Amino acid sequence: MVTKKIAILFSGSGSNLEKILEKVHNKKFRTCKIEVVCLICNKKDAFGIQRAKKYGLDTLVIEHQDFPNREEFDKELVRIIKQSGAELSVLAGFMRILTPFFTQNIKAINLHPSLLPLFKGAHAIKESYDSSMKIGGITVHYVNEELDGGEIIAQECFQKGTMSFKEFEEKIHSLEHELLPKTIIDILDN
Ligand code: GRF
Repeated sequence: MVTKKIAILFSGSGSNLEKILEKVHNKKFRTCKIEVVCLICNKKDAFGIQRAKKYGLDTLVIEHQDFPNREEFDKELVRIIKQSGAELSVLAGFMRILTPFFTQNIKAINLHPSLLPLFKGAHAIKESYDSSMKIGGITVHYVNEELDGGEIIAQECFQKGTMSFKEFEEKIHSLEHELLPKTIIDILDN
């Protein structure tokens, strides 16, 4: 059975990273085994680094402030990912805008907490909660040079009803924890 290698990039809490490690890492599927071979974080204090340790995985911390500009930072990301042999990179709460150098060299997917193309950017949960829409949702999409603008792969939505903001946020995260691992498997296990 072939092993398909993935990289995960994150910046913070890493709850989605942990779900991928729990549901996908070193697991066998219909046609392949999937292995996480590369973890990259751009924040040295990110809690996700501790979560990965529970699975025996070390994270490479690459801090963007150590580079003169975005492109130099992205060149280092590309070099490390290529070296790892990962065929797919997963942005799981990776809070950096990527340059065309990254997007043209790396096949990557991103998780976004709204129904794209609505509510792009860093305040998606608050903006979709405050909007007049009756539903909220999440998106997994391919990464291209436009922020949160690549081809949509999968979405889930739910009725807002009378949810508080906290309930809304929790619902978003619980859907994310299912959809991102499932989408990785759907892409690779074919
Ligand atoms: C998620 O809500 C994701 O949609 C957004 O960043 C958050 C990451 O959460 N891009 P976590 O670090 O995986 O807990």
